[in-house]
Amino acid sequence: MNTGIDEDMFEYLSSHLNPKRLEHSYNVANLAVSLAERNGVNALNAWLAGLLHDCAKCMADKELIKFLKNRRKKSKYFKEISINSPHLLHSFAGEIIAREHFKIKDETVLKAIKNHTLGRENMSILERLIFVADSISHDRKWKHAEILRELAKEDLNKAFFEVLVEKIAYVIRSTGWLCPQTVDTWNWYVSNFKKDS
Ligand SMILES: [Fe+2]
Ligand SMILES: [Fe+2]
Repeated sequence: MNTGIDEDMFEYLSSHLNPKRLEHSYNVANLAVSLAERNGVNALNAWLAGLLHDCAKCMADKELIKFLKNRRKKSKYFKEISINSPHLLHSFAGEIIAREHFKIKDETVLKAIKNHTLGRENMSILERLIFVADSISHDRKWKHAEILRELAKEDLNKAFFEVLVEKIAYVIRSTGWLCPQTVDTWNWYVSNFKKDS
């Protein structure tokens, strides 16, 4: 998709991300666009959120913490995340870069970048779409990625549920730290969607 600002984005992303992460960003953007129309989402917003979602991914942990502290942008579980899994902060830093550097004003795009790793309560369709696309983009080789790419075309919410289950199960199986924000996302989803399925 040619948005007219792609060149600036390519320049920034190619100098701030490694080649693998750059490729992933374009894959997520392309998948997000392909899922946008059937879910009533603006394609340009899907493209922008997909392309920029990991723009802070290659920042070091200490740099992420400092970056967010300097801007007084401490998220709900900032302290817990900083101690246990600081790389997760890249989604929060990414939202700020999208806002400050790329002058993105659309709050739905900014929220989709901000919440692509942990989710949150009351996620919009675009937020769910990017959350899903991030986990099942064509560069993702995990066991069910291909099956879920097909499912996402049919039913975004079912794919969202499966991705969320997979993410939580992965953390638990690897005895990792499960962020309470992901638990919030889970509880929000099961109390609002699962009862209808
Ligand atoms: Fe990410
Ligand atoms: Fe990503």
